[in-house]
Amino acid sequence: MATAQPTQPLNFLGNLTPVTTANAPDARVAIAATQRGFETFGYIASDAIATAVYLAQALSKPILVEGPPGVGKTELATATASLLGKPLIRLQCYEGLDEAKALYEWKYGKQLLYTQVLKEKLGDLMAGANGLKESLTRLHEFDDTFFSEEFIEPRPLLKALWAKEGAVLLIDEIDKSDQEFEAFLLELLQDYQISVPELGTIKAVTTPVVFLTSNNTREIGDALKRRCLHLYIPFPDSALEQRIIASRVPELGHDLRRQLVAFVQSLRGLDLKKVPAVSETIDWARTLVLLHATELEPDFVRGTLNVLLKFQEDIEHVDAQVPTLTRLAAQAR
Ligand SMILES: Nc1ncnc2c1ncn2[C@@H]1O[C@H](COP(=O)(O)OP(=O)(O)O)[C@@H](O)[C@H]1O
Ligand SMILES: [Mg+2]
Repeated sequence: MATAQPTQPLNFLGNLTPVTTANAPDARVAIAATQRGFETFGYIASDAIATAVYLAQALSKPILVEGPPGVGKTELATATASLLGKPLIRLQCYEGLDEAKALYEWKYGKQLLYTQVLKEKLGDLMAGANGLKESLTRLHEFDDTFFSEEFIEPRPLLKALWAKEGAVLLIDEIDKSDQEFEAFLLELLQDYQISVPELGTIKAVTTPVVFLTSNNTREIGDALKRRCLHLYIPFPDSALEQRIIASRVPELGHDLRRQLVAFVQSLRGLDLKKVPAVSETIDWARTLVLLHATELEPDFVRGTLNVLLKFQEDIEHVDAQVPTLTRLAAQAR
């Protein structure tokens, strides 16, 4: 099962051919279709996002998604899996993440149990062996059996390579892992294959769609960047953020949505320790619905600032400006 050649990459629209000037109109149609597809799963993709995902597919390249926390990087992989109807296989990165957790482990318990059960057989095998060298040769034949696919416990990366029908592989928050782990990923990202000393090279049965995300807590190495298409997701502009809120919190009225987004956008222009991301805008929109707010009234805003801002000093900084900011938000188009 592990030796088949990669088949065609997964496609949004039948068989995508490589992008050339000759078929550029097809690419534009496919990108628009990708955008509409995402929307049916509640994900509002900018042109840049839809284009990057389309290209990653057409070129069979992994995509490295960078940007501040809470702008929809993880959700992009989830939405892509829904859109393609493929399982999402997620590897959450952290400091100290190693191959055993990311790739595979041997099923030690099963190996031990089988050795116990096959003890007699092992005795038979060794019987009559002539000297240590011959015993060792015979023992090697035996350990080939125990270090085979049967005894492997696949972890996310191997699961993605073995997924016959393809998968979306999300390597989330790669900036949290160590540089050694990043180096280890290079072979996988270049050729969609990995090397297991006891088994040799394992190639993807079907090329998975790979997303790596980073919150930029450290610089990602050049070698890894070179293997990936790069997508930076910034905070959305006002129009895009309104569409995201309309999709995620449809109960919120149009006028209030416009005001809420204008208010959040103005906070992003202030000198804060942590400006609110899309996730906070969504939480605040839900809060407004729950509390039956009809307009952004200064006292109400002050009372719920903790949904938007996560540092007390930011809350204190904004507090005095709330009347001005709500007035401007009410006038925003
Ligand atoms: N473009 C978008 N369309 C719909 N929902 C979005 C969008 N961007 C962000 N979200 C929502 O914002 C929240 C945070 O997104 P997430 O993917 O966890 O952010 P990140 O991985 O960048 O930290 C999620 O609830 C997600 O559904
Ligand atoms: Mg995330």
